[in-house]
Amino acid sequence: MQAKFDLSGQVAIVTGAAQGMGESFAVQLAAAGARVVVADINDALGTAVAERIGEGAMFVHHDVTSRAEWDAVIAAAEERWGPVSILVNNAGIAVWGSMETVDEAEARKMLDVDLMGVLIGMQAVIPTMRRAGHGSIVNIASVASMKGTEGLTVYSAAKWAVRGMTKCAALELGADNIRVNAVHPGMIATAMTVDMPDPQGQPIKRKGGPDEVGNTVLFLASDASSYTTGCDFVVDGGMTIGV
Ligand SMILES: NC(=O)c1ccc[n+]([C@@H]2O[C@H](COP(=O)([O-])OP(=O)(O)OC[C@H]3O[C@@H](n4cnc5c(N)ncnc54)[C@H](O)[C@@H]3O)[C@@H](O)[C@H]2O)c1
Repeated sequence: MQAKFDLSGQVAIVTGAAQGMGESFAVQLAAAGARVVVADINDALGTAVAERIGEGAMFVHHDVTSRAEWDAVIAAAEERWGPVSILVNNAGIAVWGSMETVDEAEARKMLDVDLMGVLIGMQAVIPTMRRAGHGSIVNIASVASMKGTEGLTVYSAAKWAVRGMTKCAALELGADNIRVNAVHPGMIATAMTVDMPDPQGQPIKRKGGPDEVGNTVLFLASDASSYTTGCDFVVDGGMTIGV
């Protein structure tokens, strides 16, 4: 019997894949047989990730806020391996601060990366997924898309938007055999949370590992989730039980 998460013959792009969760997603997708574009603005770390994965990966410099760079990364993937069938919209930034005093330029930057980056990524990938004949888009949102978090107003606005866009895109792209789902991590051990203590007010009183989120991404990228679109997948140690 074929492995459930067999991604042989598939081409994937993971944004923000130079470190943290994106790196883990790229490694797991490649291990399942996909060809993976490690896309990021951090050339040094991104190149190292692609080299560690080996032949099934390549690094492409890619800023999610630039439509021209989206077109370039997709063209690079197609030229090397053929049409793209998996996109993990993972790149994101978080700046903490009170709603009253958040700097406007910083807020716009966060919305540009966390919200617009996901929108133009989904737009850019549609033609190549049509050429592939199918596709799975996995948008990495956050538990911040399901509740209020003090100090995260703008980040939260972006992630609620990603959750909403995911459902709208799933409705529009179903006819093209393209599925779109959202993953909502809780507190995961990456550079983003390095200064934070383990969460105590939840059943699993530790940060999650990037691989624990990656397992869900792998499921959504693969045909094992073939009847699933427009859905929210929470991987948070129980943080949002009761929300
Ligand atoms: N760590 C957590 O606890 C947590 C929880 C919920 C959601 N998330 C979300 O998960 C995703 C990954 O988070 P992480 O913790 O791995 O973060 P991280 O800071 O470890 O890595 C983020 C990566 O994104 C890249 N990046 C930043 N701006 C970019 C841009 N404009 N274009 C392309 N790449 C860019 C960075 O270079 C970096 O490699 C983010 O969307 C984040 O909001 C994280």
